[in-house]
Amino acid sequence: MSESVHTVTALPTARQPGCPFDPPAELIDARRHGPISRYTHPGGKPGWLITGYDLVRSVLADSRFSSRRDLMNVADFELPPAPPGEFLLMDEPQHGRYRKPLVGKFTVRRMRLLTERIEQITTDCLDAMEKTGPPADLVTAFAKPIPTIVICELLGVPYQDRGSFQEQIDTFMGGETSDEELMAAYTATQEYLAELVSAKRANPTDDVLSELTDSDLTDEELKGISLILLAAGFDTTANMLALGTFALLRNPGQLAALRADPALTDGAVEELLRYLSVAKTFMRTALEDVELGGQTIKAGTTVVLSYHTANRDPERFADPDVLDLRRQYDGHLAFSHGIHQCLGQQLARVEMRVAFRALVDRFPTLRLAVPAEEVVLRPETADIYGVKSLPVTWDREAS
Ligand code: HEM
Repeated sequence: MSESVHTVTALPTARQPGCPFDPPAELIDARRHGPISRYTHPGGKPGWLITGYDLVRSVLADSRFSSRRDLMNVADFELPPAPPGEFLLMDEPQHGRYRKPLVGKFTVRRMRLLTERIEQITTDCLDAMEKTGPPADLVTAFAKPIPTIVICELLGVPYQDRGSFQEQIDTFMGGETSDEELMAAYTATQEYLAELVSAKRANPTDDVLSELTDSDLTDEELKGISLILLAAGFDTTANMLALGTFALLRNPGQLAALRADPALTDGAVEELLRYLSVAKTFMRTALEDVELGGQTIKAGTTVVLSYHTANRDPERFADPDVLDLRRQYDGHLAFSHGIHQCLGQQLARVEMRVAFRALVDRFPTLRLAVPAEEVVLRPETADIYGVKSLPVTWDREAS
């Protein structure tokens, strides 16, 4: 059985020119051969690539697969354990110890307060864009400021620190910097968060981080938690907003439908999440031998899970490569599944609903300011996929 299994030799692979929203051809091809392929990690370690929806979902729900960084068997050197608080890269019980106190912080009250703020932030961004444009870069004018301000408010980052803070995050999440630059930005962010935690402990304010200082979590752990909230919440949402707008502009019929019918907004957000899957791949390591899709995953082997191809699996979704905002939904994996399912998903949904709605209402003639082929995309090496900039324009009289 193992003899006939498809083999993928290298990841990440580039996307096909002209298909910025579709997974790389090798991944689509791998899924066509079956939901599981053999794969060799860049460090030469044998692994597996899982591309089918059912199999990806089953691994995510299976406690025999670990998220621990120190167990990842992908390189010829050992990776260190996740720093305290960085629970995305931990298993139970450590993971739950950090996640549980946070779940209660994303309360209805805080969401409601944040919704009002998000509406205000969005209005401010669009006002500024309207005043200085056309044209405008939608990434800097709209897609980045909204989640940045939201994360800063959650963590209680003072206003004057926000510019430099955003630059640091950009550097270590953009996927294009040298290792040295990346390490420098990561260290600077860690140092900043350490100072922020001390400041909140000394003078608590009305934010999640201040509330968490009233627990048994150490400063080091709070720093790690802040880093995870930041890393997970900023870049993902920013890229969904920018790439989502690009996808809507490339699907004018869908954009017109959304513009005409505000009731379509929630469905549009879910469909864009599925279609784009900006958090495209994650890894898990088998803690024991596991039979999966007719193959044996040996204990200690790391599997790559492709959320994007899973969300485009024709066995799960009809016409999966079509962006259809009216699609009737029953579950995509853009926010993952199982114990690590996105903690901030309701917040992300609010941000996207408010932002997309306001954007299409404000600029009825919004369009690309450059040919679509000239829109610069992020390289596949970036953890989160997206556009680097999105030049847009509109008719001043009509807006
Ligand atoms: C559209 C935007 C977003 C997308 C696509 C997204 C996607 C994801 C995915 C795929 C995971 C799980 C990774 C895995 O399977 O290992 C995850 C985890 C997480 N996300 Fe999000 N996310 C988004 C926005 C946010 C926001 C706004 C926040 C918080 C402010 C957030 C906080 C987190 C946290 C804390 C985790 C770790 C959960 C855990 O390990 O238990 N995310 N996210």
